[in-house]
Amino acid sequence: MSLSERIAALEEEVRNAAARTADEVERFRVAMLGRNGAVTALFDDFKQVAAEEKRALGQRLNQLKQSAQARWEELKQASETGAGGAVQEGDPTRPAAIDAAGSLHPITLVRQRIVDTFARIGFTVSQGPEVEDDHHNFSALNFPPDHPARDMQDTFFVEGAGQYALRTHTSSVQVRVMEGSKPPIRTISPGRVYRNEAISARAHCMFHQVEGLYVDKGVSFAELKGTLDHFVKSMFGPDVRIRMRPSYFPFTEPSAEVDMSCTICGGPGCTVCKHSGWVEIMGCGMVDPAVLANCGIDPEVYSGYAFGMGVERIAQLTYRVPDLRLYWENDVRFLEQFRADAFRS
Ligand code: DAH
Repeated sequence: MSLSERIAALEEEVRNAAARTADEVERFRVAMLGRNGAVTALFDDFKQVAAEEKRALGQRLNQLKQSAQARWEELKQASETGAGGAVQEGDPTRPAAIDAAGSLHPITLVRQRIVDTFARIGFTVSQGPEVEDDHHNFSALNFPPDHPARDMQDTFFVEGAGQYALRTHTSSVQVRVMEGSKPPIRTISPGRVYRNEAISARAHCMFHQVEGLYVDKGVSFAELKGTLDHFVKSMFGPDVRIRMRPSYFPFTEPSAEVDMSCTICGGPGCTVCKHSGWVEIMGCGMVDPAVLANCGIDPEVYSGYAFGMGVERIAQLTYRVPDLRLYWENDVRFLEQFRADAFRS
């Protein structure tokens, strides 16, 4: 066997060496590194090697000696701590190596819970495009041509595409559903929306909404309130309450904003509810008759309610995430905290 082959054989032997007792560890040392040991013998033979091979072989030989020493230390330590068996190959009692598992994003988890809650009471799920035209995002929803929401401040227009923009809310999907189907309509529309906002802990230029729409004969505001009360109780528990405040949206009449009692402090006030005990979670109202008409539904025959909520806000109340930016950074140290919920769902 050449010197190179003998080095390779000893490298293998060192790698596979096992020793349980102090005696066995000492035997390994003597056999490899002792005065008459195998590694030591190679150093003697090395003197015979031709000058041009000396460099490469010398390096490998030094490495072999180092790994034999390292292995000896390892075995010694293992035998002293009683873990001598750990060096054996194929020990079936060894704990398995844990693979890093992925997880569902907290926004996905919360969106799924929202969708499930409404699906259980008969709502279908509908979707629309994120690049939307002026008609579906604004005009059909009764936004007058000079409404400030169309302003460059809020809307990301698609360059060179005339009237197209990134949708600013999921209310655009209401219009698509009403245009494309006949009442009774009972649907929710989850999705991503965009607004030209400076990014901070409390605002982001993209976020998620879930839109709800119910259109049929004789739909009332009382049903809207009952449905939303059911929704918050199934998301947050039976003790959570809602209240409605009069508000204005171009596409609903009357309109309201919905607050729920703060789940973080339970009432007395904290930074999340701005010390009021209430947190705003959505807008809602009765679909404006003009919007029904714009979408081909006779407002003399049908009425409907609609609502729209921010998923990040609901997620914040569920998980107490203090900074909206965390949802987009996808830092694994953030994401892995939701793994238990992801596997429960
Ligand atoms: N589109 C509104 C927003 O983005 C939310 C909203 C309010 C949706 C009232 C509705 C509604 O369907 O009835 O702020």
